[in-house]
Amino acid sequence: MRAADISDDISEVLLTEEQIHDKLAELAAQVAADYAGRDVVLVGVLKGAVMVMADFARHLPMHITMDWMAVSSYGASTRSSGVVQIRKDLDTDITGKDVLIVEDIIDSGLTLSWLLENFASRGAASVEVLALLRKPDAMKVEVDCRYVGFDIPNDFVIGYGLDYAEKYRNLRDVAVLAPHVYS
Ligand code: IMP
Ligand code: MG
Repeated sequence: MRAADISDDISEVLLTEEQIHDKLAELAAQVAADYAGRDVVLVGVLKGAVMVMADFARHLPMHITMDWMAVSSYGASTRSSGVVQIRKDLDTDITGKDVLIVEDIIDSGLTLSWLLENFASRGAASVEVLALLRKPDAMKVEVDCRYVGFDIPNDFVIGYGLDYAEKYRNLRDVAVLAPHVYS
């Protein structure tokens, strides 16, 4: 018997690696224009945003610094609860800095609205959000997301950094998780 393959757990590829890279290049061009001459700190939200950060940041032609936050929101495995706990804080002082939060996905928006408030209270000059993916539920909470890669349907997706039970992050594409995996 062979070892289980990631592709066995996918019902549909939603976005290919190439589509994702093209979109991140496009967003990077916008960000470069919008932030010309400013002191930008990219803050990636661990662990899901690792791939987005790596590919997006390398499209940027200007100087940036990079920092990371790890937060967890409790609740059932495929839903966010809105209760946010910091697991790893920023290493740098963002006072007076223009912060661009780099996220994998906005679902309810609860995690991000919490982060936006938290960063604003630290005296950042500005805080904006770049998210590769956004689900329709994002309308539930008021989250001003300036840069969005793709609006996607309400399915649970995996790959390109996104996990289910910490697996599937290494899948190159973004795909819909097959229901047999979690039901
Ligand atoms: P929110 O607080 O509901 O916006 O949840 C945001 C976080 O939940 C994301 O950063 C992801 O870690 C996780 N999440 C939400 N939807 C999905 C999904 O479809 N696949 C994998 N993780 C997801
Ligand atoms: Mg996650």
